[in-house]
Amino acid sequence: MSKEIALTGIKPTGMPHLGNYLGAIKPALALAESYEARFFIADYHSLNTIKNPEDLRNYTYEIAACWLACGLDPEKVLIYRQSDVPETFELTTMIMAFTSKGLMNRAHAYKAQVDQNRAKGKPEDHNVNMGLFTYPVLMAADILLFDANYVPVGKDQVQHIEMAVDIAQAVNRNYKQELLTLPKPFVSESTQVVIGSDGRKMSKSYDNTIPLFIPEKKLKKLCNKIITNSQTVEEPKDPDNCNVFTLYKLFATDAQQAALAARYRAGGMGWGEAKAELFNVLNAKISPMRERYNELMADKSSIDKILSDGGVKARELAAAKIKSLRKVMGFDFL
Ligand code: TRP
Repeated sequence: MSKEIALTGIKPTGMPHLGNYLGAIKPALALAESYEARFFIADYHSLNTIKNPEDLRNYTYEIAACWLACGLDPEKVLIYRQSDVPETFELTTMIMAFTSKGLMNRAHAYKAQVDQNRAKGKPEDHNVNMGLFTYPVLMAADILLFDANYVPVGKDQVQHIEMAVDIAQAVNRNYKQELLTLPKPFVSESTQVVIGSDGRKMSKSYDNTIPLFIPEKKLKKLCNKIITNSQTVEEPKDPDNCNVFTLYKLFATDAQQAALAARYRAGGMGWGEAKAELFNVLNAKISPMRERYNELMADKSSIDKILSDGGVKARELAAAKIKSLRKVMGFDFL
């Protein structure tokens, strides 16, 4: 039996951080074991906000190199750039005709911008381009083009997938056949919240992140910046109430965790030492991946090759799908 398809898009907007690694990259890569996995770089989605070509290019290389370095095997998993599959944009136009404007009015990314404008006393449409407004249609096309059964995403994207289902149903209803596969969101429940250096959720908007592949020295610096209380070296410390230990737990083995917890409780260990232990486990885990990342970034043509090979395969699948849709819709006279 052929495997079900799990497809997800990754917006190129800068180097992922430890929270993205544990919360999104690792679980998505694990899916490749049981599903036919397809990952694409959603570069046209980024165009809504990134208008500088150099930035867009660099972010694309960076994100591709990150996923490859984290273990994405292009022999097993299809990886491609959205911009290499123009059929995406034909399907976007097709389904645009089946998407009510009211549905788009409810999309949260657009609504958030409108709310922000209102709060600032600006016109509602300020900073709203049609790419932002129709974002869920393009995303639906990404998904429906490949008959994806599952779409691994963060909670914030579930609404978009529900919209893709609505759109697909409108198409299927009109042509009275299962033309488009209805996708299901796949939100990994086990995802722990990864805290940042200030104890809040690790997030770019809080400026508390530890980017995945920064140089060792910078990693050490960021570990040293993690906020702790002001207990003295001698005082016994509570590992369960400590940002450093909370992060340590996510990367250390059970034995390492037990050993460090004992040192916390015994007293006589300063925060500098605890942070050094955290740096050591992090660096041991990240170093081999960072090396691969740096290799790839030093030879961007190797990334281009992987992405364009993937693009050729993705396009074949997409072209077949578009051909069948054209026929059903009445564009088959060519
Ligand atoms: N909107 C997604 C995000 O911001 C990225 C994305 C674009 C996507 N197209 C997709 C995710 C298709 C899953 C499937 O993270």
